[in-house]
Amino acid sequence: MASITIRNLDDEVKELLRRLAAENDRSMEEQARVMIRAAVDGQIGPGRIDQIEKTLRELTSVHGAATPAGAPAGKTFPRGALSGRRILLIIGGGIAAYKALDLIRRLRERGAAVRVVMTAAAQEFVTTLSVGALSADHVFTELFDRKDEHDVGHIRLSREADLLVVAPATADLMAKLANGHANDLASTLLIATDKPVLMAPAMNPRMWAHPATRRNRATLQKDGIAFVGPARGEMAESNEAGEGRMAEPLEIVAAIEAQLDVSPKPLSGRKIIVTSGPTHEPIDPVRYIANRSSGKQGHAIAAALARLGADVRLVSGPVSIADPTGVKTIHVERAQEMRDAVEQLLPADAAVFVAAVADWRTENSAGEKIKKVAVEGPPVLRMVENPDILAGVGHHRQRPTLVVGFAAETQDLLHNAEAKLRKKGADFIVANDVSQGSGVGPSGVMGGDRNRVRIVSKAGVEEWPEMGKDEVAARLAALIAERLKTIVV
Ligand SMILES: Cc1cc2nc3c(=O)[nH]c(=O)nc-3n(C[C@H](O)[C@H](O)[C@H](O)COP(=O)(O)O)c2cc1C
Repeated sequence: MASITIRNLDDEVKELLRRLAAENDRSMEEQARVMIRAAVDGQIGPGRIDQIEKTLRELTSVHGAATPAGAPAGKTFPRGALSGRRILLIIGGGIAAYKALDLIRRLRERGAAVRVVMTAAAQEFVTTLSVGALSADHVFTELFDRKDEHDVGHIRLSREADLLVVAPATADLMAKLANGHANDLASTLLIATDKPVLMAPAMNPRMWAHPATRRNRATLQKDGIAFVGPARGEMAESNEAGEGRMAEPLEIVAAIEAQLDVSPKPLSGRKIIVTSGPTHEPIDPVRYIANRSSGKQGHAIAAALARLGADVRLVSGPVSIADPTGVKTIHVERAQEMRDAVEQLLPADAAVFVAAVADWRTENSAGEKIKKVAVEGPPVLRMVENPDILAGVGHHRQRPTLVVGFAAETQDLLHNAEAKLRKKGADFIVANDVSQGSGVGPSGVMGGDRNRVRIVSKAGVEEWPEMGKDEVAARLAALIAERLKTIVV
């Protein structure tokens, strides 16, 4: 017979066993034996079977024993990407609370231990019974519950997790945390924790658009709270559409994995240069020639590459967005400065040229502000060509293994992208149509949040559907990782 070593159980199972043992005034070993006996005899009811099964599997897998009798055949506890991670899920009182059930299932499928707290309002939408059955744990609902406070305590509850996830995050929960309220279990845990917090807001589009909610979200973001969603689309209430729909469970899982940094790191040890934003070419000390590039796409690509483990050096023109986290950013103004910064960063494994570099600059920018002199009329600006940074690196003696260029065109997109590929020595060109009629959002590609691109390489043209710039970035980063893996130098 396999022996039982309580020490080898994972913390969650140990905690469960400790609680049950205390409830029954038994030692933990004795409690485990009773549970195994009960499972073998088929005495365990459906409400508890998940908890018991988990315990049994932990107990037996340590010693390699066979599946215990009574455990459903073929059902195993997965050891997935979130194995050993502890999530404290706070379910708020919104219609999307039903999606939290699927979220629990998805998290447990990946090996996470999920402990759940439900607000009073959440219990109007889903029951503690279904949540408890899916999480295979006690569901916490009360701040002033003597037994819960004695067994776990609200401070421990908030700190024993690796991550707190609020899904759905109601307007009310956001407001409470933004303003430091702590008048129920959920809000108290959120303010008492020393762990990261991820919120998945879900609410009516008008609630989401309300200045108070916007303010609260900005405050929470400033306080370091991460967000996933909400998305735009049909609401669960009839005849309502707009922004406010909770992110789908799998998107929340992806955000949790990103927060816990469990994603694979195929680019670890790779140095990648990215350029982003516009350049400003001075006319005089106060005037310059610029373009509409916001830097959103380039910054998103830098962040996505960093998430895959790359050592990213971002050379950014003047933008109004924040430097991406986990990326070393060098700020420049002019094309010549950008070229110099890029060349100084060589050698690198890859370079991605997303910046909208001005093709021309004024031959001589004036040292003083050019005065408006009526008799002389408007000044004539003589332009000269700027360095071609992509071509320079594409043909450089220290050329990175992979060189990627962007082609923003308003006409003849593919023809221009193919010509650019040949001329500039790039491995592929990401071509985007930046014309007004590109069909991408009201503000178009430049400055907007969406993009539709084609990947032009010697192998042909791959068309990607329209998507968010973050998604384009993630796909491109994955493609770069794939290409770097297969290129042998
Ligand atoms: C049918 C119904 C649906 C609701 N849906 C939402 C919702 O999706 N998002 C939200 O923020 N509030 C929603 N509310 C309002 C919240 O339930 C209410 O603000 C509650 O106080 C939130 O409590 P909690 O934040 O403690 O969970 C809804 C209310 C009702 C009656």
